[in-house]
Amino acid sequence: MSDNPYLGREQTEAKHYLLKRYLQALAFKVLTFSDITYVDGFSGPWECRTETFADSSFMIAIEVLKDAQAKTVDGRGRRRSVKCFLVEKNPEAFARLTEAVKTYNKPEDGFEIVTFNGQFEDAIPVFDKFIGTSFPFIFIDPKGWKGYSPEKLAPVCRRHKVELLINFMYDHINRATAMATASTVASFNPMLGEGWREALDPTMPPGLAALKLLRERLKNVCGFKHVVSAPIYRSTKDRPHFYLVYATKSRDGLEAFRDTELPTARKHARNRADAKDRKREEQTQQAVFFAGFNADVQEAVVAETIEVNKRYAAEMILAELKNACGRMRFDKLWPLVLEAYAVRVTNVKDICKQLAKEGVLADTWGGGNRKPHDDTIIVLRPDP
Ligand SMILES: C[S@@+](CC[C@H](N)C(=O)[O-])C[C@H]1O[C@@H](n2cnc3c(N)ncnc32)[C@H](O)[C@@H]1O
Repeated sequence: MSDNPYLGREQTEAKHYLLKRYLQALAFKVLTFSDITYVDGFSGPWECRTETFADSSFMIAIEVLKDAQAKTVDGRGRRRSVKCFLVEKNPEAFARLTEAVKTYNKPEDGFEIVTFNGQFEDAIPVFDKFIGTSFPFIFIDPKGWKGYSPEKLAPVCRRHKVELLINFMYDHINRATAMATASTVASFNPMLGEGWREALDPTMPPGLAALKLLRERLKNVCGFKHVVSAPIYRSTKDRPHFYLVYATKSRDGLEAFRDTELPTARKHARNRADAKDRKREEQTQQAVFFAGFNADVQEAVVAETIEVNKRYAAEMILAELKNACGRMRFDKLWPLVLEAYAVRVTNVKDICKQLAKEGVLADTWGGGNRKPHDDTIIVLRPDP
């Protein structure tokens, strides 16, 4: 019997892996200049398999934040405070949540945890106050699409610095948005806005069009500058189960999210391949030969997807430069590329170097091993 709590729920493992890695990157950075508040809007515990709740979002966040706080001081050598606001509607789950976190609540040491029994949206004004002047990271992880709307989130998102991570339940939403029953249509109004059906991009499958609409609304209604999404596939089926939608006002955040997304995709690809092998073994009652082979293949598929993204990114760089009369600062260019494609800043640098080698861009960063940096002006060479 395996002691892996994620066996058979590899999607949850990918979600928790990305949450942990991203929050780690964020906390180590933010705690050098600000206090931080983690809000878990749909905390659970839900389907946990460990007694310690190590496989729950709230415990993962608490452990990451405790560790980051212990290892980080700000510019004046002070340890910044960490606050957690954990919301859970179900009374029985709430009782377990409260019991699980009580020993971690140490306001006297600058680590405070507040729990809230009720609906996420009813908690918004309460945690808006609780956040105060700290940097909020808000995780929204419902079982479906109900319970959160950009309009209700807008007041808390008015801050200069704030980030959201939303689990967009793509598979359910894709099926439900194709239905025309009045109650189903109305159930999407909070997330997608009244009249959302007319606002969907007709060239896309309904689930992807709904995702695009939500991303636009997070920008227009909540004031986010960058909103991107990472697909998380079903364990043993080749279609997305959900998308993790990330919203930020900072390009550093965008950079850190893409840095986290790609290792998550690689790890998830390997886990899915192993899950498929296990399923085949169960169905055929025969051991799969060359165990690990499929995992290598799946990882290669992820690598190929990254290569395809890089090719699109190169085309986009040229198009953006043409639009900008042939010149653009690197720190204006890379956020546009990272928002459109799942690539990292280092990829964008390498693409620029390659385009310079091909004579399409001028080498304005000094040649050799040097690469463009934020204040480099990227210059398109005139057509010969
Ligand atoms: C998918 S589970 C959360 C899993 C958890 N975030 C994790 O990763 O370990 C969703 C949880 O939200 C709770 N819930 C459902 N609707 C809610 C609402 N409107 N407000 C707050 N909690 C809600 C459910 O009882 C359930 O425990």
